[in-house]
Amino acid sequence: DVGESTNIKWHEGGVSRDAKEQLLNQKGCVLWFTGLSGSGKSTVACTLEHALIGEGKLTTLMDGDNIRHGLNSNLGFSSTDRVENIRRIGEVSKLFADSGIITLVSFISPYRNDRCKVRERLQPGQFIEVYMKVPLSVCETRDPKGLYKKARSGQLKGFTGIDDPYEEPENAELVIEAAGPDGNLRRPEDQAAQILEYLKLKGYLQ
Ligand code: PPS
Repeated sequence: DVGESTNIKWHEGGVSRDAKEQLLNQKGCVLWFTGLSGSGKSTVACTLEHALIGEGKLTTLMDGDNIRHGLNSNLGFSSTDRVENIRRIGEVSKLFADSGIITLVSFISPYRNDRCKVRERLQPGQFIEVYMKVPLSVCETRDPKGLYKKARSGQLKGFTGIDDPYEEPENAELVIEAAGPDGNLRRPEDQAAQILEYLKLKGYLQ
């Protein structure tokens, strides 16, 4: 399926993903962080990226707020725009992962169907869904940008978790809980360490 495009043909024969992965001593993959605004996606992704670079791994990080300044600056928060936002990021993350790069992606990505489509575009094992499972009440108390307050007061319409849906992942490879067994909120460093462990265990870091 080539969508709207006609008279185009897929071109084979570039350097293989395998060759690039051997060069980098790692497996290209997409760590797809999903969760409510204020769930700590960006903080944990950023902490994890530093840890991976510390291990000598090549990474890239794409974050909703940043990408919406550039590549996706023409997109807003209607459901159509959110779908396109995630589709584009899915395609870009595939390009990175196929180059052997450990690709960290941090978007609310509220719709299950969009995340599933990205998963289907990637090779088995290449897509690692990381669900930042943080209760709405915790995100709302944090409210780092004051957006929940605006949404509650009606100044901001269509805010995820308030008057726009967030569809929880059903089969995420990783569920990162907000609180530890003691009931206290976990530190981003500990949440990132859980993901790093998974990557080591599953052989992504070789
Ligand atoms: S999405 O749903 O995946 O397309 O969203 P994303 O690209 O990740 O952008 C989310 C950040 O945009 C800010 N923002 C909003 N979020 C949700 N709903 C509405 N209506 C909205 N308007 C602006 C918000 O700061 C999100 O940042 P994070 O980092 O998730 O807190």
